[in-house]
Amino acid sequence: MGFQLARSDNKSEFVSNLNKETANHIGAQKLSKVFLGGGGENVLALSDVNLVIEEGTFVSLIGPSGCGKSTLLRILGGLDTPSTGQVFGCSDVITSSGRPLKSAFLFQEYGLFPWLSAIDNVAFGLKMAKVPKAERIERSRAWLSRVGLSGFEKTYPEQLSGGMRQRLSLARAFVTEPDVVFMDEPLGAVDPQTRLLLQEDLIRLWEETRKTVLLVTHSLDEALLLGDRVVVMTARPGRIKLDLKVDLPRPRNVAITSEVGFSELRTMLWDNLRDEVEQSLEFS
Ligand SMILES: Nc1ncnc2c1ncn2[C@@H]1O[C@H](COP(=O)(O)OP(=O)(O)OP(=O)(O)O)[C@@H](O)[C@H]1O
Ligand SMILES: [Mg+2]
Repeated sequence: MGFQLARSDNKSEFVSNLNKETANHIGAQKLSKVFLGGGGENVLALSDVNLVIEEGTFVSLIGPSGCGKSTLLRILGGLDTPSTGQVFGCSDVITSSGRPLKSAFLFQEYGLFPWLSAIDNVAFGLKMAKVPKAERIERSRAWLSRVGLSGFEKTYPEQLSGGMRQRLSLARAFVTEPDVVFMDEPLGAVDPQTRLLLQEDLIRLWEETRKTVLLVTHSLDEALLLGDRVVVMTARPGRIKLDLKVDLPRPRNVAITSEVGFSELRTMLWDNLRDEVEQSLEFS
């Protein structure tokens, strides 16, 4: 990475250091998050997390269950706040055109509106952004086609398969042309074969659009296949244990998962993750 995290606790210093030369990076510095438990005891979910996601980079985040991945994604996405430390999320970054960064979210549970047709689901964000009707229909149609759902415009989510619903969610996330896409186990609920196809869809979409992406996943292969970097977190309280640069060439497809270089990276990841998973099981 071409810059250092600021050492100061002061947000404005962190911000100016991070976004020097108008790069639209997001990040966190010395971030911790404490949740108040139901019985009154506190849960330290994240501790001293330092992470920078550079503009146009695809970062995969892996770690044992309960280590704070979703919490970190939610904080960076502006859906939650840190207990201590600095966060530099989408609303903090002002682009060269004078607006904050736009974000979109993709979750395992699709987040589709069951009472809206496929095209109206895709168009919803555009409607909220007051995009004129003709334009929002045109853009939504184009995105439905891009994710292989042409002809399903009037279909309702419950009439679609899991994989089709997730492709619809992808179209809905990308149609608003977000700067940053936050994905929390988006492919966790689909069957393994469909998942492989969706991974290739995601690679293609990302290679065409080059958005900044943070992807939380439990799959080592998915993390490596998609990511420019794979960030490994420790067992709770979550800290960054390893930040691995993935030097595999692009364009990528699932065939690279059987190559030697890929296996070596997978082994390295698992060597780092294994202890953390064991530790998280001991405490659960
Ligand atoms: N709203 C909340 N209130 C209280 N505790 C919470 C809340 N959200 C998360 N936690 C706790 O914070 C810790 C981290 O949770 P988080 O959901 O971020 O983990 P995760 O890494 O995403 O796990 P998984 O892989 O299972 O999705 C857990 O111990 C969880 O119980
Ligand atoms: Mg989670």
